[in-house]
Amino acid sequence: MSFIWDWINNTRPPLIAPELVSNLRDAKRVVVLTGAGISAESGVPTFREAQTGIWAEYNPEELATPYAFEKNPWRVWEWYTWRREMIEKKDPNDGHYALTEMQRRLLDQNAQFTLITQNIDGLHKMAGSKDVLELHGNIFRSRCTDLDCDEIVEYKDLKPTETPPPRCHKCNGMLRPDVVWFGEALPLDDLHKAMAASQKCDLFFSIGTSTLIQPAASLPIMALDADAVVVEINPIETLITKRVTYPIQGKAGNILPKLVAGTWD
Ligand code: OAD
Repeated sequence: MSFIWDWINNTRPPLIAPELVSNLRDAKRVVVLTGAGISAESGVPTFREAQTGIWAEYNPEELATPYAFEKNPWRVWEWYTWRREMIEKKDPNDGHYALTEMQRRLLDQNAQFTLITQNIDGLHKMAGSKDVLELHGNIFRSRCTDLDCDEIVEYKDLKPTETPPPRCHKCNGMLRPDVVWFGEALPLDDLHKAMAASQKCDLFFSIGTSTLIQPAASLPIMALDADAVVVEINPIETLITKRVTYPIQGKAGNILPKLVAGTWD
């Protein structure tokens, strides 16, 4: 019996292919795209998982659209305040820290590293990652709705108001969370940087994202079209799993530290 068990274990392909370790060690331009799954092990809920996802409980059209804010700014602020207070209590996990280490190691060997996230939780920055492209904004920032003003205010610098939404200290316009809502354009400069990096990378990681929301979902496809080696880390199959070079089925907080240690230690 134990002979059969050993035989099964020894014939199973390793979770992280040795070729991937060489790819990472030799890479000159690495791009990482993360989604809600990278923060799942920090306790931040994802969006689309059937029982636990945010959109299983809340309707995005009532909370995360410009129309929802116009109709009921108070309700939208309350919801983002609840989410911000929940996220404030969370810490980066081993997956976030492994990406910080990956950036440090790659920059040390004069490779380029671009970290793109769809997350608004700021956990990559908290883990020490630099120059993060936050495609969907950041929940700890607010922005004036008056387009002539467009003032950005860190949430911690806001004076408490009795009834949200808070007002802009410059023009008294209504402030909104500095996040991207459905139907809105992404920050152009960051989107251009993300696209340019994806189109000319040699190694691309898609981590913890369902790859359902555009335009971020196009980034791994751009990398595939550019003949980059594409890695996916996700416990379940997504739209791109069958197309990528290395589909790794597992949790980011488990896989990424092993990959980084296996490459550089
Ligand atoms: P989703 O909730 O759509 O997908 C999260 C993915 O993470 C799923 O594929 C999970 O299987 C995977 N996952 C869960 N735990 C994981 C773990 N420990 N390690 C690795 N992967 C794990 O979230 P996103 O793809 O990020 O946009 O969603 C994209 C955008 O849709 C969000 O930024 C948000 C949302 O609506 C806006 O609010 C504009």
